[in-house]
Amino acid sequence: MAVSELSPTGQEAAELAADVRYHQYRYYALDDPEISDQAFDALFEELRALEAAHPALRTPDSPTQRVGGAIAARFEKTRHPSLMLSLANAFNPGELFAWRERLHRLLSEAERARLAYVVEPKFDGLTVVLHYIDGVFSLGATRGDGEFGETITANLRTVRLLPLQIPADRAAGLAAPARLVVRGEAYVEKADFARFNQRQLEAGERAYANPRNFAAGSLRQLDSSITAARPLKLWVYQALIVEGGPALSSHGEALAYLRALGLPVCPDVQRFTDDEFDQVAAYVAAFSARRHDLPYEVDGLVIKVDSLLMQEELGFTGKDPRWALAYKYAAEEAITTLHDIVVNVGRTGAVTPNAVLEPVQVSGVMVKSATLHNEGLHP
Ligand code: IVH
Repeated sequence: MAVSELSPTGQEAAELAADVRYHQYRYYALDDPEISDQAFDALFEELRALEAAHPALRTPDSPTQRVGGAIAARFEKTRHPSLMLSLANAFNPGELFAWRERLHRLLSEAERARLAYVVEPKFDGLTVVLHYIDGVFSLGATRGDGEFGETITANLRTVRLLPLQIPADRAAGLAAPARLVVRGEAYVEKADFARFNQRQLEAGERAYANPRNFAAGSLRQLDSSITAARPLKLWVYQALIVEGGPALSSHGEALAYLRALGLPVCPDVQRFTDDEFDQVAAYVAAFSARRHDLPYEVDGLVIKVDSLLMQEELGFTGKDPRWALAYKYAAEEAITTLHDIVVNVGRTGAVTPNAVLEPVQVSGVMVKSATLHNEGLHP
């Protein structure tokens, strides 16, 4: 519905919602608020009160709907617009160069001359597929089995970095695409995870094993108000469908477009021509150490053929595209001393044994305690 077709109250609500959305985007996505927290709270409260008085004005993309509250009996299934493929892995430089050789064999000489790669972090979270219709976030799903995912729209609406409307910045001068489907990763930052687990343990509750499990568990809550209270973040890394938008010829262009729409796209992206492939290998090696300084978990890098036309020509084998490769870092292990085992009894009577450890650095994090419910898995 266009704003001009609304009643005066409807118009007021639409304008308030647009203002709140804009300031949320400045605050969460750009980290550059234009107004004080108090001024923002006042705007938000005004919108909430208006919607409370006129419930018909409460649209699903209203910023007030981010606080959750929708309780599902179970998750519906969504069929993905195309198969959500996974990635072939490489664990050493030999496998990286072998992948490039394969691409060289499959592409023509003219294509080889234009071949370039985009290298980006491999985010370790929960894969999500997000749908926007006429610029409105209308559906979000997990990857599931690749063909069908679980519909977790209400939970994803609570993720502050996910724009409920695109373009997130009305001043960007971009039109909303008629249809946009993107793939990304929802995750929790290491520090937020540690803080949450600490509080859980203090309350005698179960701690999550790692940020990835925490992110996945948070998004698969049937009560979206639980999800709303979790510090979830999001990176978007692939445009699956763009209808009614600019013609895109490369992955790099697609990322720039998604970023311009206000979707969270990781800035840590590098482009290399095929002639610079030695630098790809060097970058992969150097990134292995640097990844521990990132606030989020990365289990490798993804190397993608930049040209979308070449991607299409290369296609996929089984469940893996030939045009992309995940370079995986080995999980880190460390040895330390067990000082004590403390048994927590939760409010529900659940008993969780926790190890008190001599602090040790693992994957850039200082580990002082560990839950012990996976006894036997690590002899
Ligand atoms: S591209 C068709 N890029 O890793 C390939 N995937 O092991 C599309 N992942 O569940 C995926 N970071 O969702 C791509 N920068 C990134 C990624 C990424 C994490 C996930 C992916 C998949 C898993 C594959």
